[in-house]
Amino acid sequence: MLSGIQASGQPSLGNLLGALIPFNQYQNTHNFYVFMADHHAITVRQDPKTFRENTYALAAWYIASGLNPDVCTLFAQSHVPAHTELGWILNSFTQMGELERMTQFKDKSQQHKQNINAGLFTYPALQAADILLYHPHEVPVGEDQRQHIELTRDIATRFNGIYGDTFTVPKAVIPKVAARVKDLQDPTKKMSKSNDSIGTIFLLDNAKTIEKKLKKAVTDTKENVIYDPQNQAGLANLLEIYATLTNTTPQQAAEDMAGPQYGPVKKAVIDAALTTIIPIQEKYQTLMADKAELDNILAKGAAKASLKANQTLLNVKQKMGYTGV
Ligand code: AMP
Ligand code: TRP
Repeated sequence: MLSGIQASGQPSLGNLLGALIPFNQYQNTHNFYVFMADHHAITVRQDPKTFRENTYALAAWYIASGLNPDVCTLFAQSHVPAHTELGWILNSFTQMGELERMTQFKDKSQQHKQNINAGLFTYPALQAADILLYHPHEVPVGEDQRQHIELTRDIATRFNGIYGDTFTVPKAVIPKVAARVKDLQDPTKKMSKSNDSIGTIFLLDNAKTIEKKLKKAVTDTKENVIYDPQNQAGLANLLEIYATLTNTTPQQAAEDMAGPQYGPVKKAVIDAALTTIIPIQEKYQTLMADKAELDNILAKGAAKASLKANQTLLNVKQKMGYTGV
């Protein structure tokens, strides 16, 4: 299994429950490669200081929330040069028309009209290289990345058709998230880290802020604790968050807390959120305070990843007729 993540902004409770924690499980069941996609991040302009900090921060959040760098292979994309080398090669197996159809390219060129660069356009060929270097069977990603994985499959199949069996054709898996966490102020929307309101809990929020945001979460006036996402969306969201944090179901949680008042539900969610988030925050702070140690961890990850990546790249270059290999 393999997945890449682009660092942007501070992660939210939605990211924790929908991505960080589910990823932890993969390392126990699969040979799991996970990397910070820093070469992808530069397709929009980055401030050097923030860029560096964000890459470290993402690694730190992953480790803090449970990824074990001795068990999985955690690394930064730019530390393994085989990515860009294979990315260049795969550019020649990717059609302009295919790239023009990518919705992420269309969206990002709308958002960054002043900087529609070639990197943004050929981004999916690099992403295909990221994946194909490691022969994963499954690539867990959010729904928005499905199109890039489909293109990766097409590129792999095309290459295999010309040079013989070289790449494993991977498939996208969209993790079944226990909870699609909703905005606390507007439970019809998903909780988003780009929405800087009291409806989003950020993993860096302090205990007081987390408590305040959950207390202010919008509910209804029915004052009857049942799990009914259609008619009591705000309450259902709180029950889902609680259930995911404590490994139960929202139905069960509603039964346990049945009654005419929402106060106890909010209190239970606050306790569960703090119990999970505070230790993760402490671990995050410790990791971020020692960049030399993070460098160490990432260097080990890159060394492990390179073994596999370089082997694939060598095979590709031999098949294609490059000299020196
Ligand atoms: P994003 O923050 O949109 O870049 O998403 C990064 C990862 O977090 C993806 O795997 C998303 O599916 C997951 N994610 C983001 N927001 C939520 C949410 N509100 N609930 C559950 N998962 C989420
Ligand atoms: N494009 C992905 C995103 O925007 C990040 C990414 C880069 C990735 N390379 C990948 C994801 C390879 C999965 C596999 O989130």
